[in-house]
Formats: sequence, structure tokens, C-alpha cells
Amino acid sequence: MNHLLGVKELSREAVTGILDRAQHWADRPGERSQALAGAFVANLFFEPSTRTRFSFEVAAKRLGADVLNFSAAASSTQKGESLYDTIKTLEAMGVGCAVIRHAENDALRKLAPRVGLRIINAGEGQREHPTQCLLDLLTMRQHFGGIDGLKVAIIGDIKHSRVARSDMWALAKFDTQVMISGPEKMMISGDEVPANVSIVPIDDAVAKADVVMMLRVQRERHQGPLYAEPTAYHMAYGLTKERERTMQRHAVIMHPAPINRGVEIDSDLVESERSLIQKQVANGVAVRMAVLENVFGGGKETWESCLKTVNM
Ligand code: CP
Repeated sequence: MNHLLGVKELSREAVTGILDRAQHWADRPGERSQALAGAFVANLFFEPSTRTRFSFEVAAKRLGADVLNFSAAASSTQKGESLYDTIKTLEAMGVGCAVIRHAENDALRKLAPRVGLRIINAGEGQREHPTQCLLDLLTMRQHFGGIDGLKVAIIGDIKHSRVARSDMWALAKFDTQVMISGPEKMMISGDEVPANVSIVPIDDAVAKADVVMMLRVQRERHQGPLYAEPTAYHMAYGLTKERERTMQRHAVIMHPAPINRGVEIDSDLVESERSLIQKQVANGVAVRMAVLENVFGGGKETWESCLKTVNM
């Protein structure tokens, strides 16, 4: 693939192929390769990030690439330069891949067909966060030995979550049941709800699931206040200790993070035995190594031949 814009358009085989390669790297923590030696990868984050930005940087460096970090606040976007002109500028310098996080829903889909370098979606509006989704799937697959047959509860601010959308689309490619739950103003409805997804009360979702995935309230995407105060939210829609006790013995807790402790999840549960949250972060590097390799030709193509497609 030349770009990774979302998981919705990927086949089950493509998802499985990336997970297989990511597992290769997950089995070799710290191991480096020179597969992308000489390539430049630019990280352009127009929204805040800790996990995604740094794990892409670690991943690119472990593959031998040189990493350029873009600061939107210190860039010519402050003088009105568009995303397209920014990317064309990097392309002209020989940058082979741009890892982009952007607040607009269609920013990357509009951009990708117009540029020659590889585009990786590091979080696009409310639309998709494909590498977070792939690391979520890798974490589930490692823990349960497969994805087929899983019951996954995604709980919280579904409406404003690009992670929830990517996870729902990806899990639909497998034989899974997905339950979603959250406040009415943070839920999706009608055609927005994929066929494999059902809307259920939180207590049912927590009790039935193999995976309980809690989501942060995405206040930065709300048009106005959608919930009264954190403690009330925690009691109504959070993973409290009381709810955790109703989970199946084998069930696990996941969260894409960042976490608001005491709001969507009890602070003690973040580091509990059931929690795979740190494992998710660790898997982020392995998944991003696999994705970078893939957009640069999966090892079959050198980065120099990728650059032949760049419009210089
Ligand atoms: N999960 C995630 O995207 O985290 P960051 O915002 O820290 O990158």
C-alpha cells in the first residue's frame, strides 16, 4: 500500500498481514534494521499527541530512517500555508513519508491523491485512527490467541472517537460481536452503527465482554458541555471498581489513552492485573514499524524506488 488512510478500506488479509509483521517486531523488542536507511520520515501533528508521535519516531529510527519533527506552531502554516503546500514542500526536499495527525475529517483523504510521498494517518478528525486500531487488534490477538469469536465492549464517547470508528470497522472484518455504550449525546445511531455492532446498557456490556475498551471523553471535539461533572460521569458511564467486579474472570481492560483517571476508569484499574493498557503502548511501536515498512514497499522495494513516484 502507498498510504495508510484508514482500516475501513483494508481487507481482512491486509490487516492480518500487518499484524503478522507487527508481531515479528513485538517478538524482537529493541531490535533494529536498516530497511529504511537513508529515508526521511516527517511527523506532522496538528493536534497534541504523546503515544502516536513518539512511537512513530521510535519505529522509524529502529528501521534506520531519519525522522523530521514538524511543529505546527513554528511552521509556515502560521502564515497561512495549506497542508497541501506544506507536504509538497517536504516532498520537494526528498521526504518519503508523512505521518499526519489533523483535526479535519477528510484532510488526508483529500491530500493523498495529490502528493507523491507516502501518507500515514496518525488520527484524522473523528474519522479514523488506523494505527491505534491495529495495535488494539494486535494486543487482543496476543492475549486471546485470535480475534475471531471475541466480544468487545467499547464504552464512552463513541460519537467523537476516531479510535472507536476504526476499531468497529476492523472488528467487522472478523467474526466478532461489538457492543457500544455511553451517554446518549456521545452515541452514534442509525446508519452510523455498523452491522456487527449493538448498542447496550453499560452494565450488560461490561458483564458480557471479553474486552472492555474504555474511551476518554473527547471534550476538544464537543460543541458545548455534554456532561455535568466528572464524578457523575464516572458513576454513570465509567469503569468503576464495582463494575470491574462484574467482568468475566478472563476479561481484560483496554484504553487507547490518554486516560482521565477517575473519569472513564477508576485509577487503580489502569494498572490492575486485567489491564492491557501498557501492552497497547508497547505494541504501538511494533505496529508502526510494520506500517512504515509496508508503505515503503514491505521490504520488496527500497525507499529509493518509492521516491521515483514522488512528483519532484
Ligand atoms: N492513543 C493516542 O492516539 O494517544 P496520543 O494522543 O498520545 O497519540
